Amino acid sequence: MLSVLQLLMASFGVASLWICRAAPVAQNRVGFPRAAAQSDDFNLNPYPGKPRLTFNEDGTFKITVFSDLHYGENPWDVWGPQQDVNSTTLMNTVLTSEKPDYVVLNGDLITGENTFRENSTKLIDEIVAPLNKLKLPFSSTHGNHDNEPNITHAEEIKRELQVAPLSYTRFAPSWANGQGYGPGTYWVPVYTKATDHSPSLVLWFFDSRGGFSEGVNSTRVPDWVDENVATWINLTVATMDAAWGPAEKVNRGSLAFVHIPPHVVQDLQPNLNSTQDPGLNADELGSGSTQATTLPQDADKDDPFWNALNAQVKNLHGVISGHDHGNEWCKREITKNVIFCFDKHSGYGGYSSTGWGHGVRNIVFRSPDPNVGPETWIRMEDGETHARIIMDSSYN
Ligand SMILES: *[C@@H]1O[C@H](CO)[C@@H](O)[C@H](O)[C@H]1NC(C)=O
Ligand SMILES: *[C@@H]1O[C@H](CO)[C@@H](O)[C@H](O)[C@H]1NC(C)=O
Ligand SMILES: *[C@@H]1O[C@H](CO)[C@@H](O)[C@H](O)[C@H]1NC(C)=O
Ligand SMILES: *[C@@H]1O[C@H](CO)[C@@H](O)[C@H](O)[C@H]1NC(C)=O
Ligand SMILES: *[C@@H]1O[C@H](CO)[C@@H](O)[C@H](O)[C@H]1NC(C)=O
Ligand SMILES: *[C@@H]1O[C@H](CO)[C@@H](O)[C@H](O)[C@H]1NC(C)=O
Repeated sequence: MLSVLQLLMASFGVASLWICRAAPVAQNRVGFPRAAAQSDDFNLNPYPGKPRLTFNEDGTFKITVFSDLHYGENPWDVWGPQQDVNSTTLMNTVLTSEKPDYVVLNGDLITGENTFRENSTKLIDEIVAPLNKLKLPFSSTHGNHDNEPNITHAEEIKRELQVAPLSYTRFAPSWANGQGYGPGTYWVPVYTKATDHSPSLVLWFFDSRGGFSEGVNSTRVPDWVDENVATWINLTVATMDAAWGPAEKVNRGSLAFVHIPPHVVQDLQPNLNSTQDPGLNADELGSGSTQATTLPQDADKDDPFWNALNAQVKNLHGVISGHDHGNEWCKREITKNVIFCFDKHSGYGGYSSTGWGHGVRNIVFRSPDPNVGPETWIRMEDGETHARIIMDSSYN
């Protein structure tokens, strides 16, 4: 039985957690919280104040991915806010029936070009409300529409951490935050049991930047994961291996999320086989549809990131992206031997076309053992499911 003192401490702990989150964070010029920049960049216990994420007793762990929610479109028209009402309904419907263990918001949370300086991050409160209500742990990546004159990735993350107690989103160290435009690079550990020494699954989140810089003299921001992130991957993996053992030896799996697909994904589309690589394929990839392809002179700028990810992160089950609303397919990228999957466009905001509809990608780990690949499929708002594959060595 808990003593009165323990109860008091417990409730004070919860209250002080909320107060801490609401406190203003010191900023430098690019909106990067100083406290995070000065903290240990390679701390292997990054969430001391939050519950440890664990596999269920039956060995499963279910992730539901909402992508391209595009809140805040055309607030001056009736249809703009109505889209957000619809997106919130979709989130509530899906979360209540899917009951995921973790939720990923995979970029373009907000249509930033339609927001106002004075209240742009208020939209974050709307987006996280269904997650707060169901007390679901989650984290976010950010997209090209989340960097605009009146909003930045850093501001969205700061707001999320203030209003969502179960957000696991973190700030990258300042030297790996893409000159301030790509602060959302971090990893999240998932343990088999809460008492385990080390995680059996690491979820990786990368910030592919894009969009436009803040302020009146806004200019285009590079749309690829910054090359310094390659060094961050190297150092992070080296720290993990030293403390926990190499991933292949201790059976540690990984899964990666990044809003804009790596540029190599563009080469996969002409060779899709709708039997092996099921899912909507209605968005022809071209300029700007994948990383570092907006301007010809930038082509391949995401190579350092892509090479480091695939060389260093062992037992990588796959890489998951949004951005191209008309694509849902998965395909193995054979040069790196890694499975790539598109999300499902979730938001009523953002471009769409007849028949595309809205939904989520589910990813279910069936065991903490990385030799057992997760199962993944698209779930539409009305409950229909399709494009199911197993992300393991037998996949195409
Ligand atoms: C909202 O969803 C309803 C169907 O539930 C649809 O008829 C309507 O067009 C949607 N509104 C917008 C603005 O997307
Ligand atoms: C940014 O917000 C200001 C203040 O609300 C508004 O006047 C301006 O039009 C917005 N800028 C853009 C590019 O949307
Ligand atoms: C932000 O302010 C604008 C005008 O000042 C208003 O039209 C809009 O609805 C507000 N948005 C939010 C999310 O509060
Ligand atoms: C934006 O650019 C104009 C023209 O170069 C300059 O006069 C102005 O001071 C700049 N504004 C800001 C806020 O940097
Ligand atoms: C990462 O490590 C690999 C292998 O040790 C090395 O070849 C590569 O140059 C490193 N990359 C960076 C950016 O440090
Ligand atoms: C597509 O995949 C199916 C199933 O694996 C296979 O039978 C078929 O030959 C493939 N088609 C092409 C054109 O490769």
